[in-house]
Amino acid sequence: MRSLASCLSRVMVTLALIAVTSTSTKWVEDGVEYGRIGGSITLLCGHKHDSPVAEWRFNGARDIPWGFFTDQGHLDLPNLQPSAAGNYSCHSQSGGVLAALRLRVGSPPRPPAVSCRASDYYNFSCYWRPGGETFLPSRYIASYRSNNHVSGICLQEAARPNACSVRESQPWSTYQINITEENPLGAAVRILVFTVQSIVKPDPPEKVTAEPVPYAPRRLRVSWLYPSTWPQEPQFQLRFRLQYRPVLYQYWSVVETANLTDVITDAFAGVEHVIQVSARDFLDAGNWSEWSPEVRATPWAAKEASGLPTAASDGTTTEDFGSEPEEPTDQNDPLEKEAVMISLGIFAFVVLVLFLVIGVLIWVRVGRSKESGKKAGFLSTIHMKALPKSQIL
Ligand SMILES: *[C@@H]1O[C@H](CO)[C@@H](O)[C@H](O)[C@H]1NC(C)=O
Ligand SMILES: *[C@@H]1O[C@H](CO)[C@@H](O)[C@H](O)[C@H]1NC(C)=O
Repeated sequence: MRSLASCLSRVMVTLALIAVTSTSTKWVEDGVEYGRIGGSITLLCGHKHDSPVAEWRFNGARDIPWGFFTDQGHLDLPNLQPSAAGNYSCHSQSGGVLAALRLRVGSPPRPPAVSCRASDYYNFSCYWRPGGETFLPSRYIASYRSNNHVSGICLQEAARPNACSVRESQPWSTYQINITEENPLGAAVRILVFTVQSIVKPDPPEKVTAEPVPYAPRRLRVSWLYPSTWPQEPQFQLRFRLQYRPVLYQYWSVVETANLTDVITDAFAGVEHVIQVSARDFLDAGNWSEWSPEVRATPWAAKEASGLPTAASDGTTTEDFGSEPEEPTDQNDPLEKEAVMISLGIFAFVVLVLFLVIGVLIWVRVGRSKESGKKAGFLSTIHMKALPKSQIL
């Protein structure tokens, strides 16, 4: 037999639950009780009725093996399992329904997983996922506070569930975001602290185009624009990276640039390439954007060289220059010219150094032989001077 104390405590829990549900009727249904999986709940047969409670029914059936009918006419449900969820009704002796309610069984929320992202320096959004399945209706309360004492609601829109956004944020401020998941059994809070520049992640570059470079069978010219969401202000520049690979190849090559156009110089001749571009804050704040949608292009090809039609937009190009040898490409290649100039320079320098070394060696040799000549002369004078002495002795 259950003790009166435990029975009373359950009634208190139930009353507390009723209190919770009544304060938040907008998102929690009326006539519904909520129980925690593994917990217990006592169902009360309404508030006022003259006839005593004769029995409880579950989904219309009289048999409730997991429930205990108490002396007060309540239904005691210990160790709740999801299978206990359903419609309960209490009945008078005559079988008339005194009250009916629905029981939902679930879990209190766990702190949601939250991430925030700014697509520019003046707006940011936070996104979240529930910390776990609760089987119950829940809602989120999203608010923020900044280090310069601005606080407010992070706006949620029906069109974008599990997300909220803060407009007109201050680029260099620290924000504290509070995402609270609330359900009838409790609430769980996730706090995130960050500066706006640390969560900057631009949208991908837009209008990415790739085209062949005439007479250059290994080149592709790629151009793009700033994402339209990015503020066009001098203090907020972006840099870019470009990734490309032949369509049938697995590995990407990556180059970085601060410009809005770049020329790939090591494309595979006659092969279609896949190209994507992404952007990041020029000063490396935050993260790289997602890659732009793929664009494809094939380098220019001489007609007889590959036997394939050229990828140039107008077919006339091929006709006009098809007879040209492939060599001219090297002529309009400033990089290769530069490389040749540099190696010539290095060669000239090496020759100069060699000459210098030989010159120095010769000079040292000459100096030494002169010195030894001097020494010889000096000795001979001593000898000469010494001679008379020896003659004296
Ligand atoms: C912030 O976002 C809103 C809506 O997306 C946009 O209208 C507004 O121009 C953005 N603010 C700035 C400074 O870019
Ligand atoms: C977070 O928000 C919830 C709901 O508004 C509030 O009850 C809680 O006190 C807040 N927590 C912090 C640390 O700000």
